[in-house]
Amino acid sequence: MNQYTKEPIPNLAEAVQTVTRLLTHFDTKTFYSEYTPQMVTTNELSHIYNLKQHIKPGASVLTVGGSGEQPLFCKMYGADNVVTFDVSYNSYLLTSVKIAALQAFDKNTDYEKFVYDLSHYCKPGQLMDTPKLNYVMPYLTYAQKNHLRYTDEIGIPVFLGDISCDFYCIPQQQYEILRQSVKSPFPFIWTNILDLDKKLGDDKFDILYYSNILSFLEPQKIAPVLESTKKHINPRGSLFLLSEFNEPKPAIMNTVRDVFENASDWNIDFKHARKFGDFHDIIIKRCQNSNYR
Ligand SMILES: C[S@@+](CC[C@H](N)C(=O)[O-])C[C@H]1O[C@@H](n2cnc3c(N)ncnc32)[C@H](O)[C@@H]1O
Repeated sequence: MNQYTKEPIPNLAEAVQTVTRLLTHFDTKTFYSEYTPQMVTTNELSHIYNLKQHIKPGASVLTVGGSGEQPLFCKMYGADNVVTFDVSYNSYLLTSVKIAALQAFDKNTDYEKFVYDLSHYCKPGQLMDTPKLNYVMPYLTYAQKNHLRYTDEIGIPVFLGDISCDFYCIPQQQYEILRQSVKSPFPFIWTNILDLDKKLGDDKFDILYYSNILSFLEPQKIAPVLESTKKHINPRGSLFLLSEFNEPKPAIMNTVRDVFENASDWNIDFKHARKFGDFHDIIIKRCQNSNYR
């Protein structure tokens, strides 16, 4: 247990309502909420390849939890203290299931197959039939196991399948580093990014990794989020804003320029490079002698 993580007692009646709404009305403004089912594998892996070069051994990282790749791979690349946040509790569950799978499987191929299977047994009522889930369950807490079983039983999807699993491959050597580096769940802040600042207090990080979140906020909420994020960036630390969209959203680009316009404190880099596809990264680096407090 750590300063952030509290095992919530899920309010399943609310979850049923939320998920029913999500599945019947796709509306990006309300799509992500407390129990949004998580994509088992996502394009987060492609983002992570770019992040590798920026993580110095021992770095502290704050990242969206998502489907777990971001915290897991940050750790594999040498980050020390990795804190996660997400509006959906299922992000914490999925990350915990992946961490448990790391403990359960010695071989990368078994881990990859398990993740692949998870994404194919994702319809409500199927989750518990995922092959080799019984190898993984002993590494989960009582509350995590119960949440998985109960939500699945009453027909709420906890996870969603998505892109093909050929995408998800970790060479055995890297897999061993990953297993060694991640032995227990990450601190998890269960929050909307709009309230993240309050929950962080005075904590600062070397890397803040917000991928594909700002695009889902109402445009007028982006500036306050960025403004309140500044004080959580260490001197020489960086904020990564990555987008899965093929063009940078003008609302985000312009807001970033407005909020970080003081060139003596911040260095903004609008990159157009990604291993897969035609994505845009925005990297905002805090200068060493920044006056910002
Ligand atoms: C927006 S999705 C995009 C998928 C993933 N990041 C990727 O790169 O493929 C990422 C995560 O952000 C979370 N999320 C979305 N809106 C959020 C918000 N306002 N506050 C906190 N987390 C949010 C979702 O629950 C999900 O786990």
